[in-house]
Amino acid sequence: MNYRFLGTTGLKVSELCFGNMTFGGKGGFKTIGELGQPEANRLVEMCLNAGINFFDTADIYSQGIAEEMLGKALGNKRKEIILATKVRAKMSDNVNDVGLSRHHIIEGCNASLKRLGTDYIDLYQVHSYDPKTPLEETLRALDDLVRVGKVRYIGCSNFAAWQLMKALAISEKLGLERFITLQPYYSLVARELELELVPLCLDQEVGIIPWSPLAGGFLSGKYRRGNPLPSNTRITDMQHRFLQFDDEKAYTIIDGLEIIAKAHNASIAQAAINYLLRKPGISSVIIGARTPEQLADNLKTTDWIMTPEEVTRLDKLSEPPRLYPYWMLDWTKGDRV
Ligand SMILES: NC(=O)c1ccc[n+]([C@@H]2O[C@H](COP(=O)([O-])OP(=O)(O)OC[C@H]3O[C@@H](n4cnc5c(N)ncnc54)[C@H](OP(=O)(O)O)[C@@H]3O)[C@@H](O)[C@H]2O)c1
Repeated sequence: MNYRFLGTTGLKVSELCFGNMTFGGKGGFKTIGELGQPEANRLVEMCLNAGINFFDTADIYSQGIAEEMLGKALGNKRKEIILATKVRAKMSDNVNDVGLSRHHIIEGCNASLKRLGTDYIDLYQVHSYDPKTPLEETLRALDDLVRVGKVRYIGCSNFAAWQLMKALAISEKLGLERFITLQPYYSLVARELELELVPLCLDQEVGIIPWSPLAGGFLSGKYRRGNPLPSNTRITDMQHRFLQFDDEKAYTIIDGLEIIAKAHNASIAQAAINYLLRKPGISSVIIGARTPEQLADNLKTTDWIMTPEEVTRLDKLSEPPRLYPYWMLDWTKGDRV
C-alpha cells in the first residue's frame, strides 16, 4: 500500500480508503448492502491487513448503524487509523435534526462519536451544501469542534465549485479551520468535475477523495454491452439507477479498460480505480465492496501502476462534454505561453 498526504496536511493516508456504505442495510441502504457485524469485521480486517489506514462512513448510512458497526470492527485499532464521517442528512423527524446549523453539527458530531465509540473524528465532512444555513455559521461550528478536540480536520462533499471557494474564502477571512478535502462523485463515467472543481482543488490545495470510483459497480466488469444485467447487485434497473451517466459511452470505456486490465493481468475494476489514482489532486480513492471477493480484487489495484499512455487513452475515451467557457479558456491559453 502507498500513502499520500491528505490535502496539504501533514497526515498520511493510504491511497485507497474503505467506504462502508454496504454495512447495515437499513431503509434505502438495503439495496446497496446488508452486511452484518461478522461480515463487516472480515472486510475491515482485510483492509487493515492490506495496509489501509483510512475509513469513510456517514451518520446517514443505514441511519447510524454503519457507524456503529465500523466502530466495533475497528476495535482497539481505532487510534492507528484515520476515521472520516459526515453530517448534514436528515436523521429523524425532528425539524432540527438535519442540515448544517450550529445545532445539528454539534449534536450530530456528539451522536457520531458515541456510535463510533471514539472521542475524536479525524475528518468531519459536511455531506453536501445547505442552502438554508449561512456558511459562516457552519464553519464556526466546525471550527469550535476542532478547538475542543472532537474533530481534527474538516472536509466537504458534493459541493459546487462556487460553494467550496466561498467557504475557503470565509475560513480565510475569519481565521477559521478550512476544508482540507473535497469528497466528490468522480469516475471514468463522471469527469465533469475536471472542468471547475479539480482546477479549484489544485489551485487551493484541497485534497480530492473520490466516491463511487466504479460508478456503483458499473465499471467492475460485470456489466457489458449486450449482456443482461447481473442479478444480486445494487444496479437493478439502468433507467432508474441513482448515478447519472451515458450507458453507451460507459460500455465503450469498459471495452477500453478491459484491454488495459489484460495487459497488466488485472481486473477491469482494478483498472478503473487505478486510473483515478493517476489523476491530479487525488489524496485517496474511496472504494466500496459488498463481498470479500470484491474487496480482494479492488485491494490489488495498488499492486500495479497504469502507464501515462494508458491514462491518455482512457482520457480520450471518457472525455467530458466541452462546455463554455472552458473551450474558450483553452483557446486563449495559447496567447500567454
Ligand atoms: N459523499 C457521498 O455523497 C457519497 C456517495 C456515495 C458513496 N460515498 C462513499 O464512497 C464509498 C464507495 O462508494 P460505492 O460503494 O458507490 O463505490 P463503487 O466502487 O462505485 O461501488 C461499489 C460497489 O460495486 C460493486 N463492486 C465493487 N467492487 C467490485 C468488484 N471487484 N467486482 C464486482 N463488483 C464490485 C459492489 O456492488 P454490487 O455487489 O451491488 O454490484 C460494491 O458495493 C461509500 O462506501 C461511501 O463511503 C460517498
